[in-house]
Amino acid sequence: MSVAKREAESRKVTTRRLIEMKQRGEKISMLTAYDYSMAALIDQAGMDVILVGDSASNVMAGNFTTLPVTLDQMIYHGKSVVKAVKRALVIVDLPFGTYQGNSKEALVSAIRVMKETHAEGVKIEGGVEIRESAERILSAGIPVMGHLGLTPQSINKFGTYNVRAKEEEEAQKLLADAHMLEDVGCFGIVLEKIPAKLAAQVAAELTIPMIGIGAGGGVDGQVLVMHDMLGITQDFSPRFLRRYANLGEEITRAVQNYIEDVKSADFPNEKEQY
Ligand code: KIV
Repeated sequence: MSVAKREAESRKVTTRRLIEMKQRGEKISMLTAYDYSMAALIDQAGMDVILVGDSASNVMAGNFTTLPVTLDQMIYHGKSVVKAVKRALVIVDLPFGTYQGNSKEALVSAIRVMKETHAEGVKIEGGVEIRESAERILSAGIPVMGHLGLTPQSINKFGTYNVRAKEEEEAQKLLADAHMLEDVGCFGIVLEKIPAKLAAQVAAELTIPMIGIGAGGGVDGQVLVMHDMLGITQDFSPRFLRRYANLGEEITRAVQNYIEDVKSADFPNEKEQY
């Protein structure tokens, strides 16, 4: 690789650059992170976008849904991640109840995230229902990413984590919502758990990048929850999930070895003491 190309690739990723990547047909990589140490590793690996997802509610706090996580908690995770990241674009999820139904509150929430975490944008779930909130946040110069399809903050309305927009009516609404989000100025949209054909159609019709999770390969990039793809969560295996490691087993094995060494007085040995 030439020096110029290497330098160009190590530049900080911006929302503008994501749109250029879509124009070039270059796929966008996105992964969640919630803490300093993991964010540093993920950034060093060359990730394009790091999402401080409200999945923190599940994988960090042990909640059943994303609903309980608070703005203060998301800001804590966001701050920790931003401190570690040199290259990736960092986006923070606005949690449930901080932007729906009140666009002034949405703006206050987004401003807090930007001021306190130094992240580069926020993600919000929904279509026409959150249009005013999206517009108001965008009017303050804050980049907004949309999220359509299976929107986990609405799980109590859906009643299931099954694939969304299989029926024509919901598919048409999703398409209209995606166009609306592009028209108001969002820089990208996460499409979660929808038919691959529909996701590919949305990606083809829009100029901003569509990042899929369970939305097939016809979109502009992919996102996964870090704990799922590293095999830290073990009781979650939807069809769309590819596991790249089995850290759950690896960590358990390492911890068991440590316990055994402590119990047997094998640790510390002569060289491991002062
Ligand atoms: O919170 C999250 O992790 C997300 C991803 C599933 C896209 O929104």
